[in-house]
Amino acid sequence: MDWGLSNRLNRIIRPDTGHVVMLAVDHGYFLGPVTKLEQPGETVDPLLPYADALMLARGVLRNCVPAETDTPMVLRVSGGRSILAGEDLSDEGLATSMDDAVRLNVSAVALSIFVGSRHERQTILNLAKLVDQGERMGIPVLAVTAVGKELEKRDARYLALACRMAAEFGAHFVKTYFCDDFHQVAESCPVPLVIAGGPSMDTELEVFKMARSAIDQGAVGVDMGRNIWQNENPVAMIRAIRGIVHDELSPEDAHELFTDLSA
Ligand code: 5RP
Repeated sequence: MDWGLSNRLNRIIRPDTGHVVMLAVDHGYFLGPVTKLEQPGETVDPLLPYADALMLARGVLRNCVPAETDTPMVLRVSGGRSILAGEDLSDEGLATSMDDAVRLNVSAVALSIFVGSRHERQTILNLAKLVDQGERMGIPVLAVTAVGKELEKRDARYLALACRMAAEFGAHFVKTYFCDDFHQVAESCPVPLVIAGGPSMDTELEVFKMARSAIDQGAVGVDMGRNIWQNENPVAMIRAIRGIVHDELSPEDAHELFTDLSA
């Protein structure tokens, strides 16, 4: 790995713990103003000190995040479909150029791949092209193994296939979903894996259990959105997640920390 690329990746995945808490706020790129992310700047502001990296699209970066920040940015560059497209969200292209990623001084770029979808080939070729550009510019690529409505399967067999393909085509790290037997996904993916949180869960403890289990089974961290900023106490939530990811807290201890910080 070239020095620049390695240095950028090391800004995201903390070398001292080997782990990362990324905060995902890119949802608007196909969902519009989702609940609690109507004004991204206000949502992000109190959470930024606790995020090792922020994942977002360029419009929110330029308009809602202060340029004084030291937090590494992971720029979503794929897109092209909205939730109104119905079942098929997979028809994505590369919607933001590598030139703009460099101009924005980001630490990584992110795109979704839709393995098994109608646009599987197109999104894999998007990945291959982005990796070529990333290698040229020294910018790591995060491949997100998206699971659209047309792809209900989130089992280890499917996710291991999707993550492995992402790595085979050159992604420097991969974002996927947690599932039963997650270790099978992690063991067969030769690059670092982070998990998305998915829709808000019923209890905080469920979120903490998922994060603990993902780390124990081989994930290097989380790239979480809704389960943090849709919570009534988002700062307490991200700090408790940090306890799990960086300080080896158990789900129960994380919950105690969450309760104390929420008081
Ligand atoms: C969409 C994404 C989102 O950033 C991702 O789903 C993470 O957010 P959440 O924890 O809310 O699921 O990459 O493709």
